[in-house]
Amino acid sequence: MIHIHVYEKWWIAVTAIMLIVLSVLVGVAGFVNGFQVPQPFARIDPNTVKASGPYSEAELGLRELAPGKYEAHILAQASPWRYYPSEITVPVGATVTFYVTSADVQHGFKVQDTNINMMVLPGQVAKLTRTFDKAGEFPYVCTEYCGVGHQNMYGKIIVK
Ligand code: CUA
Repeated sequence: MIHIHVYEKWWIAVTAIMLIVLSVLVGVAGFVNGFQVPQPFARIDPNTVKASGPYSEAELGLRELAPGKYEAHILAQASPWRYYPSEITVPVGATVTFYVTSADVQHGFKVQDTNINMMVLPGQVAKLTRTFDKAGEFPYVCTEYCGVGHQNMYGKIIVK
């Protein structure tokens, strides 16, 4: 039989406990707090993204698909540093699927007081869905440093 030093046994126990605790925390975040992992929904050419399709000027923003169900196409852009659109208004109870992409560099898209927080990469479309049950204003901000105007990248979702 292999002899294991008593300290070694303690460290094995500590490691096992850490694994269990972290698994529980991830489970609670995922199933209780609604933690979502954004996935690249689609690929898109950042050089032509504004020319036509859902990220062209005419198509950007909110669209109602069915009663209470919306999709929002949002474009993040540096120089000028801003989101298009920078304001979205939905009724209370609306379920909104956000499709966000970048026309240039890496940006972020975090909606305050929600579980939406995603990285926005040029060439990829990030997608997350959220239901807005309470009236209020939910600011969204860029969470990735994207240049000298980074701090100007913000907008808001108005739920009323
Ligand atoms: Cu866009 Cu920071």
